[in-house]
Amino acid sequence: VNKGLKSYYTSYFPVGVAVGARNLSGQSAEFIVKNFNSITPENAMKMGPIHPEENRYFWAEADSIVSFAQHHNLKVRGHNLCWHEQTPNWMFKNADGSEVSKEVLLRRLKDHINTVVKRYKGKIYVWDVVNEAIDDDSTKYLRNSQWYKICGEDFIIKAFEYAHEADPEAKLFYNDYNTERPEKTERVYRLVKSLVDKKVPIHGVGLQGHWSIFEPSEQELRNTINKFSSLGLEVQITELDMSVYRWEKERRPKRPDESDEYTAELQQKQAEQYQKVFQIFRDNKDKVTSVTFWNISDRYTWLDNYPVPGRKNYPLLFDTNFQPKQAYWSVVNFK
Ligand code: XIL
Repeated sequence: VNKGLKSYYTSYFPVGVAVGARNLSGQSAEFIVKNFNSITPENAMKMGPIHPEENRYFWAEADSIVSFAQHHNLKVRGHNLCWHEQTPNWMFKNADGSEVSKEVLLRRLKDHINTVVKRYKGKIYVWDVVNEAIDDDSTKYLRNSQWYKICGEDFIIKAFEYAHEADPEAKLFYNDYNTERPEKTERVYRLVKSLVDKKVPIHGVGLQGHWSIFEPSEQELRNTINKFSSLGLEVQITELDMSVYRWEKERRPKRPDESDEYTAELQQKQAEQYQKVFQIFRDNKDKVTSVTFWNISDRYTWLDNYPVPGRKNYPLLFDTNFQPKQAYWSVVNFK
């Protein structure tokens, strides 16, 4: 019998899932409560959706997610306070259309963080404060985003300080992807170590976990967890999914001859990869303090059509009918 995903992990860590308002009623609401004990708003708390104009916040979806969590006794991971994507255009512009100064941008960042974090104070126990600030080019360090261009690395330090001021009890995380690739592990380590050394209030590192049947390797993942933990930081897996394709950021349309059939072989490989990473999480239960999936089931995943338009993906533990897959059993059957 299937007890529900979360109940296999009660003595390890909370198991979370990314949600939107569309998931909070009917079949998927019941499904969430049965399987998960933590939720993350997939988009609703990002700066663009929640703060579309300078003096206008749009709270409806974020509020409904937080009240659903309270009603069902679920933890909430807040995602996120500062990112180079899904940021509203007004943030970087003066009224006359010119680019804002560093001073103005930091004041806006402070207002934003203060308003959002205070609204949910005591209801959101952990925030992804800064998301994806490391460059995609492995020879470079910080991403040359508008935040960086205008503020230099101060925007990162300030974001953590503002969040800490707004809710001193909340845990504050730096969150990024491909963090297990050795070159990126080094660069994320450099960043978070510099924050720790400067006594910036940071409590953990989020490994997004947009992985695939090809990566990460066992050694890469263990090394990454150990490295961040050695700085006294918690590690959370914040956006887990296991693509059945190789991760490549190509945006060409799928060729007509390319299959997106979910073969028995792929299902098997995926189950093995999930089994491997969950074994590592369990072995590190004192270091890994939460594991969150990025969406509920293969019925809807952000990896449908991304990064390759027209291509279906099957990255989660439950199939398009919300039924447990082979990968599910590989995660819950352990001694
Ligand atoms: C994604 C959402 O899942 C999509 O719905 C949206 O269109 C784009 O953002 N890293 C992150 C997440 O930190 O916020 C992203 O979520 C996926 C990659």
